[in-house]
Amino acid sequence: MTQDNRATFGSKIGVILASVGSAVGLGNIWRFPYETGQNGGAAFLLVYCLCVLLLGLPLMLTEFFIGRYSRKNTAGAFQVIAPGTKWNLLGYNGVIAAFLILGFYSVVAGWTLEYIYQSLSGALSGKTAEQFTQDFNLFNSGIFRPILWTFAFIALTHFIITSGVKSGIERSSKIMMPILFLILVILCIRSVTLPDASVGLKFLFHPDFGKITSSVVLSSMGQAFFSLSVGMGCLITYASYFGKNTNLQKTALSVTLLDTLVAILAGVIIFPAVFSFGIKPSAGPELVFITLPNVFQHLPLGGLWSFVFYVLLAIAALTSTISLHEVATAYILEEHHFTRKRAAFIVSAGVMFLGIISSLSFGVLKDFTIFGLTFFNFLDYVTAKIMLPFGGMLTCILVGWRVDRKILKAELTNKGTIPFYFFNIYAFILKYIAPVAIVLIFLNELGLFKWIEK
Ligand code: TRP
Repeated sequence: MTQDNRATFGSKIGVILASVGSAVGLGNIWRFPYETGQNGGAAFLLVYCLCVLLLGLPLMLTEFFIGRYSRKNTAGAFQVIAPGTKWNLLGYNGVIAAFLILGFYSVVAGWTLEYIYQSLSGALSGKTAEQFTQDFNLFNSGIFRPILWTFAFIALTHFIITSGVKSGIERSSKIMMPILFLILVILCIRSVTLPDASVGLKFLFHPDFGKITSSVVLSSMGQAFFSLSVGMGCLITYASYFGKNTNLQKTALSVTLLDTLVAILAGVIIFPAVFSFGIKPSAGPELVFITLPNVFQHLPLGGLWSFVFYVLLAIAALTSTISLHEVATAYILEEHHFTRKRAAFIVSAGVMFLGIISSLSFGVLKDFTIFGLTFFNFLDYVTAKIMLPFGGMLTCILVGWRVDRKILKAELTNKGTIPFYFFNIYAFILKYIAPVAIVLIFLNELGLFKWIEK
């Protein structure tokens, strides 16, 4: 495809919504609460916000720069930024990460479909907290049912991807994202009016600094990258579809703020409920799925609430899987000159394969572990805590050290037509702060500092 006939997003609001759609997903509503629950609550939230501001936001802006400047898929983009070098390997890191993330993300997305079904069939009511937990475990340790839902979700993603950028990605985001916000706010109001809601709010907002350990810091950073969709070129691919007049700074800021807002709203929905119904906040990946049915059944018209919520979760997941799928599809399409349909088919088939193993790792493959982690947890760990921060670090180094400041500034200010007041701070973060911080967080987790202290 030549540069000129590349698709672009049709409208300003479409650009923002599609990017928000990529960022806001299971990462905010499923992963954020369970990571917060496992990593000590408010302390985690605090470090998370720091990571979003200091690492996530500058990196997002940088990915927007790379994408719109090069107008290429993730792998091709690096060849434009640093031609004739090995930096394009970074693009492959992104394409592989897209497959691996989809490999576990689609499974959880499949769970949301099961819960939509159960809300409709009435199976999500009249149970105790223990029964909800038991039934969830029975479901996700099964063989056919969760795999079937995983496949259904991948098929849904595939369908939107093959309808193309403008009619598929943009239109679906435009309809789905505003509905999502509305429903979240309504659920928040319900949750904070539960009995003992204050205990949950305290857990989320009142930090105990003693709980900030090296693994809390690594987890917060991983969560920040995961939630903002940065570190693997997802936003490079989207930005390659942005128009010349898109304000990259404003878009990055809006996406970051909205994404963080949704995560915090999700926390405000989940934690009051967790404490109100005596569920452990550290329950893990099942947290959202065992907590919320309890809330819904204690509400008037509970079945309706729960139906609406899981539809919302599925929608949020879909706008994210679309963005991940698009990274791999655009790569195969443009670098190997396949048709869009064939490229998408290859991606979907690969993801289905990974999805089967991830799904089974809650049941029959429970004992098949890699470095002590089940296949599902392994994919999650490797992508969020290693590949994304690593990819993000190299992206900052590449743009901070190799790209001409004038080119960078021209692209981020639309050739000087919009101001960029913090440009020097931004460039300093790219060049020094982000790479050093990420390396230190890695080393800290590996126990290097403990070793030095001895
Ligand atoms: N950010 C999305 C979420 O929070 C998931 C996601 C979409 C993602 N694209 C990504 C994560 C790219 C990392 C990289 O659910």
